[in-house]
Amino acid sequence: ARYHPRAGHKDQLRMAPNIRSTQQGIDPMTSGSIPHPQGKKGRILSGIQPTGNLHLGNYLGAIRNWAAMQTDYQCLFCIVDMHAITIWQEPAELARATREVAAGYIAAGLDPATNTLFVQSHVPAHAQLAWIFNCVARMGWLNRMTQFKDKAGKNREAASSGLYVYPNLMAADILVYKATHVPVGEDQKQHLELARDIAQKFNNDYGIELFPLPEPVIQGPGMRVMSLRDGTKKMSKSDPSAYSRINMTDSEDDIAQKIRKATTDPEPLPGTVEGLENRPEASNLLNIYAALTDRTLAEVLVETEGWQFSQFKTRLTEAAVGVLGPITAEMQRLMADPAEIDSILKRGADSANEIASAVLKEAYSAVGFLPSDR
Ligand code: TYM
Repeated sequence: ARYHPRAGHKDQLRMAPNIRSTQQGIDPMTSGSIPHPQGKKGRILSGIQPTGNLHLGNYLGAIRNWAAMQTDYQCLFCIVDMHAITIWQEPAELARATREVAAGYIAAGLDPATNTLFVQSHVPAHAQLAWIFNCVARMGWLNRMTQFKDKAGKNREAASSGLYVYPNLMAADILVYKATHVPVGEDQKQHLELARDIAQKFNNDYGIELFPLPEPVIQGPGMRVMSLRDGTKKMSKSDPSAYSRINMTDSEDDIAQKIRKATTDPEPLPGTVEGLENRPEASNLLNIYAALTDRTLAEVLVETEGWQFSQFKTRLTEAAVGVLGPITAEMQRLMADPAEIDSILKRGADSANEIASAVLKEAYSAVGFLPSDR
């Protein structure tokens, strides 16, 4: 079905309506110069910023779900270093953290032989498509982004302009591969809605069925891991308190100590999900436990009903150490051989570039840029 652009909308401020499942007649499996491989359910693109340490939220909200999807989908997993510098990063530390995220991906089970693992700045088409999207996305859309408001804080005048247009680059990360599915934690939902709006507006404005609308995949008890100090705040790399998060590189002792110090309330654990209402810290620790043991919250509550926190924290520590211990050890092994990591990332960039440059070419042509290879 041909997609008919609506008239008079090119500079609209209104968010495009969120169309859940219509793909505008685009078959992302076959459209464009690089179709998805046979037998796959779609193409995944997701990424993590190399800022600070990878933490349990990154693992349970993102990487673990990626690992579970890697056989059914064609997958590209990116280390988004260009996003990282929207806030100041020490250069040597950025380079170290970029390799550490790669090590985390591999140690957590992403197979570099079958998935494309790469660094964002190694694929110039991300930035090139992002420029077009700077011209597609409306200021009004960006003004609604809560992450910008959170990160810029009170002094917006001092925030980098990159931080403001960050969601346009994120849309380019996804759409430059015509990705169909984007598995992320819940905090990225608004950015993904924007990516869908950008895809739709680009298609409308240029009257072309170029970009499929990517589906967010946000699921499981780990989609929103909260701070160990305050159950109403997200676990995050930028929290000044080291006790607020468990890092993927923490030792067993660190993990045990952080869980022991985690904020709780005075009540024993309830037997039902309803019993967790207004108990953010208890909810968070139980959700983490459910995610780590691959169960639902309700299933976990059957086990822990009536427990005191001391007993539960011992059990939670065992679960966390059991899952993270082997990953941490493997990360350390990989980090000892940076040349090996670099060669995996180089291979990843080569295959990412192949898809991205073909899609960029289609976008350039749609926009009316003269071909450069004539
Ligand atoms: P970033 O680097 O903040 O986080 C990486 C991934 O981890 C998830 N996550 C969490 N999940 C559950 N609980 C938490 N406390 C938690 N903290 C982080 C995030 O949801 C994310 O999935 N803008 C993105 C990076 C990005 C991206 C992309 C993602 C850039 N381009 C394209 C997907 C597709 C970000 O800052 O994630």
